[in-house]
Amino acid sequence: MGVNTLYFGVDFGTTNSSVAVYDGHRAWALPLDPENDLPTSLPSLLYISRENEKIVGRAAADAFIARNVDREVKTKQVDLGVSVEAYVGAEPEKSEVFNPALVDPEVRHAVRARATIEVNAPGRLFQSLKSLLRQPAFKSTEVFGTPYQLEELVSYILSPIKKAVDGCAGHAVETVVFGRPVRFSDCDDENRIAEDRLRTAAKLAGFKNVAFFLEPVGACVEYAVSVEEKQCLMVVDIGGGTCDVCIMEFQGGSGPEQRLAESRILSVAGTPVAGDALDREIIRNRIFPLLGSKARYGPSNLPMPQYIYNQILDWQNIYKFNNEEMINWLLAAEAFSNCPEGLRALRCLIQKNYGYLVAREVEAAKKRLSEVESTHITVQRDDIQIDDILVREEFSHIIEYTLGEMRECILEAEQNAGIRPSDINLVLTTGGTCLVPAIRAMLEERYGAGKLRSRDSFTSVATGLAVVARYV
Ligand SMILES: Nc1ncnc2c1ncn2[C@@H]1O[C@H](COP(=O)(O)OP(=O)(O)OP(=O)(O)O)[C@@H](O)[C@H]1O
Ligand SMILES: [Mg+2]
Repeated sequence: MGVNTLYFGVDFGTTNSSVAVYDGHRAWALPLDPENDLPTSLPSLLYISRENEKIVGRAAADAFIARNVDREVKTKQVDLGVSVEAYVGAEPEKSEVFNPALVDPEVRHAVRARATIEVNAPGRLFQSLKSLLRQPAFKSTEVFGTPYQLEELVSYILSPIKKAVDGCAGHAVETVVFGRPVRFSDCDDENRIAEDRLRTAAKLAGFKNVAFFLEPVGACVEYAVSVEEKQCLMVVDIGGGTCDVCIMEFQGGSGPEQRLAESRILSVAGTPVAGDALDREIIRNRIFPLLGSKARYGPSNLPMPQYIYNQILDWQNIYKFNNEEMINWLLAAEAFSNCPEGLRALRCLIQKNYGYLVAREVEAAKKRLSEVESTHITVQRDDIQIDDILVREEFSHIIEYTLGEMRECILEAEQNAGIRPSDINLVLTTGGTCLVPAIRAMLEERYGAGKLRSRDSFTSVATGLAVVARYV
């Protein structure tokens, strides 16, 4: 191996991706997205326009907001001209309990109306594609009539990474180390499928030889190669999609090579629960009630069907509801509801494509709560008039269950390593979600505040993987 050989590690993240290079002495992250606040971190976002243009990273979000959200849309007027029982009957799961005979003809007349349906969405935005890798049922999706395999979509996000790597090396690089979470899924088959798909995506992006290495072990290596003392290290990496834990024992030693050779992995553990799950809890608990999730509608005073909310918990599913049948049904429900403003807001969310904006504001509010005790969640567009105060203590309360799952994962790592909390010398936290105060408090309580140390939340995994590419 020549003195100038470079080694590359790729961290394809649920929310952010990064790539690092190691030259045998030093490892550093490569700039990927000049438009991002942190240029070494590429938001794992993909926008595909109707004209088949593909935009990746921060620019993908910007393009989606500029082109798809809150704009002059080309619309189609549809005559609702049907009575309320027809609307209620159109709602799949509740039709059997609706009795049209109970509807007063006067009232029926009142809901005859016209609706405006959007027919020309300019593009689609994809987020958290890594979380889809584990879902065997999600094979491909049609974007304006063109089917895209999931692997292809992922490869578009990897392509700026390939470019950065080739640019750094000065030639086409074929061999890299990719990170992977300890568990893409709790199910073994899905785990295997996810890794195979990520390998295929990497090959489509131009990486011919891909070796996988566990993300939290990468983060462990990143720290440990620079430390001389013998120690027992725990890494807790909680990102957007997965919580990953690794416990390693380092013997110290004189150089990185010797330190790694004499280290031992005591255990790893992982679970597919992280920052996206926290966002979903805020949406379920704080946003949905403002969108009518607790409303009752119709002459029989039925509860709003929860399948709608379960579906739109991921905003990427919202577009599926932007069809005539659904909009008509919502208009009718709104006319006969005890919370018309909520249902109007829901309809506006669906018709005007505000899902991503709401999700972004929720995520931003969650991040602010890592710094301040309380914050406003504000989205005020058209019929959506959300201005909700979220207090940190309440946030900690609504994420208790999710936090419990992360805690279980950490305890599993301890148990499998056969150690007690006091045996651990240092707990390194990385990944954006480790910045959540309730998570820090949980770790401090178990290991002691003095043992916690944060690593660079967004590039430590890639940096460790680059080192791994050289030595392992
Ligand atoms: N200051 C903060 N407070 C709370 N959460 C944060 C903060 N900053 C980022 N996050 C959250 O961290 C997550 C992203 O972290 P990170 O970039 O480490 O994930 P990732 O590596 O892309 O995902 P994964 O490793 O799970 O595939 C998002 O859910 C984001 O909302
Ligand atoms: Mg990560």
